[in-house]
Amino acid sequence: EKCGYSHFMLKEIMEQPEAVRKTISPRLVNREIVLEELNDAKELMKNISRIYIVACGSAYHVGMVGKYAWEKLLHIPVEACLASEFRYSEPLLGESSLVIVISQSGETLDSMAALREAKRKGSKVLSIVNVMGSSIARESDYVLYTWAGPEIAVATTKAYTTQMVLLLMLGNYLTKQLNRIEQDEYAAIIRELQSLPEKISVILNNLEHYQKTAANYFNHNSIFYIGRNLDYALGLEGSLKLKEKSLSNIVEVKSRGAEVIALTTELTVNQIGSQASEMFVIPKTHLLLQPVLGVIPLQLFAYYVALNRGCDIDKPRNLAKSVTVE
Ligand code: BG6
Repeated sequence: EKCGYSHFMLKEIMEQPEAVRKTISPRLVNREIVLEELNDAKELMKNISRIYIVACGSAYHVGMVGKYAWEKLLHIPVEACLASEFRYSEPLLGESSLVIVISQSGETLDSMAALREAKRKGSKVLSIVNVMGSSIARESDYVLYTWAGPEIAVATTKAYTTQMVLLLMLGNYLTKQLNRIEQDEYAAIIRELQSLPEKISVILNNLEHYQKTAANYFNHNSIFYIGRNLDYALGLEGSLKLKEKSLSNIVEVKSRGAEVIALTTELTVNQIGSQASEMFVIPKTHLLLQPVLGVIPLQLFAYYVALNRGCDIDKPRNLAKSVTVE
């Protein structure tokens, strides 16, 4: 079942080009994003003044990226909410709010409860789900499926990347339907969407680098991930400024005795390279799609660190694939 891989996690990491391709390509027709599941998108969005993206765990992290991308694309306030908190935070639900639920399994109890609360208060619910016919899929007004295939390892990889890509596609689709995006920008995003599977493969072709880096760092007591929010929301100049700031963070951390592994794109390799001990370089893509590629090196690094430490990779201690009880 593991097809020669030592763990499901690595198998599923390696399946990402295909999973992302399957999620994207049926929805790209003649250089347009086509979401048949949403044929009345204009009608759906007509009175929407606020969007909540609700999810648990990794799917919530996808929602956090979505918040930045969607606000930039749609010019509507978007909030990413942890499903377990949603019911208790008195969200402004009603006809003018749209609720997006993201869930791999489609069975997570907190996400389900948030969905029901949203519907009870009159909001439409659109879900992004991996498991066909799951509870969340069944109860949603609209469902978009990620075509990641079954994900066995508890740590999500291909479900995460396909959720991310689908959420970004959906954001671009809605902004196009609402005429809120320039044609050139839209065309550039479509081109880059098409090339994502290939670019993921480029990263995956270099497993030895992650293996080696992990072998050098696996016995450190702490690893901190440092980064600023998604700098794409701020445009080119803002992005440049943030990168400069990131650079000074690196210098600061190094001066306090830490070693630095930098995750960067081809564009900034030279700037960053002189300051970092190691680099994970991802191919250049549209800024909005960068998180889809950026996560792959982090998955590989986590996998090889866990391998070196002798962890139970596919079933980490005290973690369940989905939590269906309160
Ligand atoms: C958590 C799992 O309880 O549920 C996480 O431990 C997972 O790994 C989260 O990301 C959400 O699961 P799902 O199936 O709703 O995406």
